[in-house]
Amino acid sequence: MRILVTGGAGFIGSNFVRRTLATRPDTRVTVLDKLTYAANPASLADLDAGRCRLVEGDVCDAALVDKLVADADLVVHFAAESHNDRSLREPAAFVRTNVEGTVAVLTACARHDVRLHHISTDEVFGDLALDDPARFTPQTPYRPSSPYSASKASADHFVRAWVRSFGLRATISNCSNNYGPRQHPEKFIPRQILRLLSGRPPRVYGTGENVRDWIHVDDHNDAVWAIIERGEPGQTYLIGADGEASNLDVVRALNRAFGRDADDFEHVTDRPGHDRRYAIDAASTRALGWTPRHMDLAAGLAGTVDWYRANEPWWRAAFDAAEDFYAATERRAAPTARVPARGAVRDVGN
Ligand code: NAD
Ligand code: DAU
Repeated sequence: MRILVTGGAGFIGSNFVRRTLATRPDTRVTVLDKLTYAANPASLADLDAGRCRLVEGDVCDAALVDKLVADADLVVHFAAESHNDRSLREPAAFVRTNVEGTVAVLTACARHDVRLHHISTDEVFGDLALDDPARFTPQTPYRPSSPYSASKASADHFVRAWVRSFGLRATISNCSNNYGPRQHPEKFIPRQILRLLSGRPPRVYGTGENVRDWIHVDDHNDAVWAIIERGEPGQTYLIGADGEASNLDVVRALNRAFGRDADDFEHVTDRPGHDRRYAIDAASTRALGWTPRHMDLAAGLAGTVDWYRANEPWWRAAFDAAEDFYAATERRAAPTARVPARGAVRDVGN
């Protein structure tokens, strides 16, 4: 099977490529990646060149995408601008890659009748109140909050339009927050790990009560394969591992993993429009026979710490650049305002 993986030099895409080559001997992979600041070609450097090649290029380059899709049996579309904080500063790049790039992939897959799996996010559903017992399902209405999640929501609508209008054989998955090896140092968990490895305390936005539904990247990618192999074209699948934890829970667990006082961290400026809580009901993907294997978040975090401790050349330059990015706007702050609960109206503009 010839697989085109867009965004395969990023966090989830590179782990997908590695897991695919390790578990499916009948596969060959072409990675299409623009190698933006978020990519790290070292994530693929040790792979068998006979089974994996990297094409440096833009997913918005329709001619290039068409040529690569023509030679593929399956396309898995990870390429995206993926960081909420950056989408607040430079939204245009998110519209271009996440929306226009997806349309280029859809056009080529329809022209060559190639099966597509589109990687989306739970953020398209907006957020839940902290005390709301509800979780996201495939029927939850779209209500994105940030330029990033709005661009991913838009891309999902285009996928559905291509399924309905052109008969494209496509599935969509909306996954919760991933963690594990090879995640860019700008993201929450690696950032805190690398600050701790550098002798600096973790930094929590606002009160730290915001909740994310954590899943190990290998569990996400195994679920993607379950959908590719057993999912129904035209359907949407939600992926999550019942891993809800507040940001405070996570920094405390990381402090403990480093043998530090659990409450030794800093509160900093909150993210504008900060989503309160994400929570996934993954029944749609579990029905395909998939179950997550990494259910102990503390153990998963400890393994992730070990990976970063052993791979400083992989992360050093990107970590320094990410800290410079944050230094431009981030200030230490007292954790005064509580995260609004059910029914509360969130303040805007101040
Ligand atoms: P990432 O930022 O680590 O990787 C994105 C990759 O896409 C990078 O290698 C980058 O170079 C590449 N890319 C960006 N613009 C491109 C372009 N124009 N052309 C070609 N390549 C381009 O992101 P990630 O965390 O690995 O996320 C991968 C996908 O999974 C995204 O679609 C994201 O929305 C989705 N997702 C992420 C999470 C998460 O927790 N990280 C959860 C759910 C869904
Ligand atoms: O839910 C899936 C989404 O998860 C993906 O679609 C996105 O691509 C991915 O980046 C992630 O989005 P988040 O915004 O939830 O992830 P991030 O790692 O940026 O932040 C996680 C939480 O931690 C969030 O509540 C903000 C907070 N945070 C983040 C950073 C970088 C901090 O408190 N301190 C920090 O230094």
